[in-house]
Amino acid sequence: MFRIRSCKKEDLNAVHKISAENTSFDATPTPADTEGMLARNPEYFYVAIDNSGEIVGFVTGYERKGIPEEVLRTWKASRVGYIDLMAVDSAHRRQGIGMGLMNTLLRKFGEDGIDLVMLDVPAEQVAGVRLYEKLGFHVRALNMRKYLESENP
Ligand SMILES: CC(C)(COP(=O)(O)OP(=O)(O)OC[C@H]1O[C@@H](n2cnc3c(N)ncnc32)[C@H](O)[C@@H]1OP(=O)(O)O)[C@@H](O)C(=O)NCCC(=O)NCCS
Repeated sequence: MFRIRSCKKEDLNAVHKISAENTSFDATPTPADTEGMLARNPEYFYVAIDNSGEIVGFVTGYERKGIPEEVLRTWKASRVGYIDLMAVDSAHRRQGIGMGLMNTLLRKFGEDGIDLVMLDVPAEQVAGVRLYEKLGFHVRALNMRKYLESENP
């Protein structure tokens, strides 16, 4: 069993440990990054805690401000939320913790009047992609890349 609550400053060491052990992000956030996320958007930062009180997962997000009205009209949205980071400790996966964290953050976004939520996830992170699809997220764009040979052919 687990429960979800807002992240507190004293949780940040455990949060950082989980984020550092998960390589899905291009660059692992530093402790200062995580501290900054909590300082800027404490209302959109949640942790999952197991029976023994250990932090076993977290999710962070924020409201994307400053989007031009014209763009919001195109997106048929009035306010936009962004899922920044999510990870669950590997020993505690497939127990619904990721889903619980996301549902908590999505509910809070909705309560605050956010009506569109976006996120980026590396295509090879199948667990994350499946979880997001299960929650109703759909792919809007593909971020493509190709390495160029260093010598001319
Ligand atoms: C993505 C992640 C947070 C999922 O956490 P979790 O607590 O295991 O997720 P849940 O137990 O809530 O799973 C919910 C659903 O997601 C899907 N899912 C989760 N893990 C999966 C996997 N390894 N393979 C396929 N589908 C998976 C399933 O549909 C699952 O429902 P089910 O168990 O009823 O089949 C976790 O795997 C993780 O931390 N991964 C590394 C970091 C990461 O990829 N973060 C997100 C992308 S940035």
